[in-house]
Amino acid sequence: MEYMKRTATCGALRLADEGKDVVLNGWVHRSRDHGGIQFINLRDRCGITQTVVDEDAPAELKKLAGSLRMEYCIAVKGRVRKRPDSMVNPEMPTGEIELQITDIEVLSKSAPLPFMIEQESDAKEDLRLTYRYLDLRTPGMQERMKLRHDVIFAVREFFHERGFYEVETPTMIKSTPEGARDFLVPSRLHPGKFYALPQSPQLFKQIIMVGGLDKYFQIARCYRDEDARGDRQLEFTQIDVEMSFVTRDDVLRITEELFQYAFRKTLQTELPESFPRFTYHEVMNTYGSDKPDIRFGLPLQDFSPFVEGSGFKAFDSVLEAGGAVKALTAKGCGGYSRKQITQLEDTAKIYQAKGLAWMKVTENGLEGGVSKFFAQKQEEILAALGAEAGDLILMVADTWRTACTALGAVRSRLGKDLGLTDPKTFAFCWVIDFPLFEWNEEGRKWEAAHHMFSMPQQQYLDTMEQNPGEVKGDLYDLVLNGNEVASGSIRIHDPEIQRRIFRIVGFSEEEAEKRFGFLLNAFQYGPPPHGGIAPGLDRILMIMAGEQTIKEVIAFPKNSVGVSPMEGSPSEVDEAQLKDLHVKLDLPENDA
Ligand code: AMO
Ligand code: AMP
Repeated sequence: MEYMKRTATCGALRLADEGKDVVLNGWVHRSRDHGGIQFINLRDRCGITQTVVDEDAPAELKKLAGSLRMEYCIAVKGRVRKRPDSMVNPEMPTGEIELQITDIEVLSKSAPLPFMIEQESDAKEDLRLTYRYLDLRTPGMQERMKLRHDVIFAVREFFHERGFYEVETPTMIKSTPEGARDFLVPSRLHPGKFYALPQSPQLFKQIIMVGGLDKYFQIARCYRDEDARGDRQLEFTQIDVEMSFVTRDDVLRITEELFQYAFRKTLQTELPESFPRFTYHEVMNTYGSDKPDIRFGLPLQDFSPFVEGSGFKAFDSVLEAGGAVKALTAKGCGGYSRKQITQLEDTAKIYQAKGLAWMKVTENGLEGGVSKFFAQKQEEILAALGAEAGDLILMVADTWRTACTALGAVRSRLGKDLGLTDPKTFAFCWVIDFPLFEWNEEGRKWEAAHHMFSMPQQQYLDTMEQNPGEVKGDLYDLVLNGNEVASGSIRIHDPEIQRRIFRIVGFSEEEAEKRFGFLLNAFQYGPPPHGGIAPGLDRILMIMAGEQTIKEVIAFPKNSVGVSPMEGSPSEVDEAQLKDLHVKLDLPENDA
């Protein structure tokens, strides 16, 4: 038998539809009995409509309506009528009408719910993920899934219009570690051999350029075996982009246009014509972070000119050792209690600061904390820092890097505490001129700061082996509200330069050949100059949606320990499956 198929959605009906006979299908959102008259709020993806079984309805219909429980999936037939004035709900798009029910069909029943379907479920994360199908019914999740779709659609539209091809790259590839750990897939046909899941399509997109496809993009799934945090998942999605015959500025420009387009199309938000650019050194020095939140000021300043002769040992000794003393003027925080300052100090210490020196600015000048050391220079200090009565001056002395990052963390925290981080403000900026190499103290070796395929800037090409730490790369990150949302570079297309980079990061010729031989081979056949970028789709959506974690914008994410509680992955597999794969388990003692 045919069921009562819908003729309208639960978000569609308006006053203009008064008198129409319609069928709605959806879920029982709420039902309540007002002394004989029963209200059933019916919900689907498009909205909620109030449906009503009147007091004088047939007894059978009233009985059926009374038996409905939350989240039963039902069909209702009825006539649209205007709500009495006192019942009009201006908050609801359908709030001026209701449906007078003449027939109800139960399409399926629902077991008692583990949590209520509300705008946002307030259930614990694992419960939400276990019952993700119910969680997905919450209007909040539905809005975010729509936003995700809309953004992906806008991205495809944008690139298509500009002549890019979307090319799919394989998700089972050769293990070519890019920084994180690879997920491995054992091969049954080739005992003892493994595929790896790609950490990104990096090498393939470069090979696509060698293949002459010129302009590539892909909504690409990436896999990294790392600890999941708020803005990280084991599998996540990039808007992967690569272009031939371009310079850095071409890549930055098209990325700006991409986001202008996507924000306009989906959030009706106009982004600035171009995004500010800072060098890596600038952002570290001024914001104490390589992903600065520029929604607010609170810049770090140089305090070292005021240290000489102050008699404050902690600062003196740092400067003697070649370090830096950085200061931050916390506007209007002069009233902070000891406890509040200690909390800021704790934040600084997480980032290896030895302490957080402070002084308050009052009408009478500097007071409290370490002010006694700086009383003589207070005029100069206040002028240089732009500090006024009511402010709190915070200082960290350490190596330049530690002083900057520790005080940068304090800055981020103050930004949040002082309410300077409006989630509806979208402050993009570029960070450019990153160092190409980073010193790994533990391994006592140089490592690629981004990945090994990025081009050193021209002026370092001849001498990069002499001082790798000084080499800047043609690298760029896009930062949004303090989050790294994209990163990319102009690539090396000269096999000789590529070999030199491998050497600097300690890859022997053999090792490089074994892992990346296919790329070096491809580069023997007229590779074009090329470059690209990869925005992290999940992170951007998280910020667009005003959320704190990327799990909120992913339909089926893993929890914070990499588990999907809904289907229960990862899971054990049959002995027979392992045997097929020639895999033997060697589990740690205490692990069940
Ligand atoms: P990178 O490793 O910096 O660069 O990644 C690019 C962007 O992807 C996002 N991202 C993540 N999002 C969620 N979970 C994760 N675990 C995760 N890791 C990264 C970030 C990041 O900025 N192949 C290069 C890009 C290139 O050079 O073109 C790459 O993958 O937003
Ligand atoms: P002390 O003289 O060691 O008691 O420190 C006085 C104040 O200076 C305390 O608030 C410490 O947290 C702070 N302090 C000590 N060392 C440093 C440092 N390297 N940078 C910033 N503050 C410091």
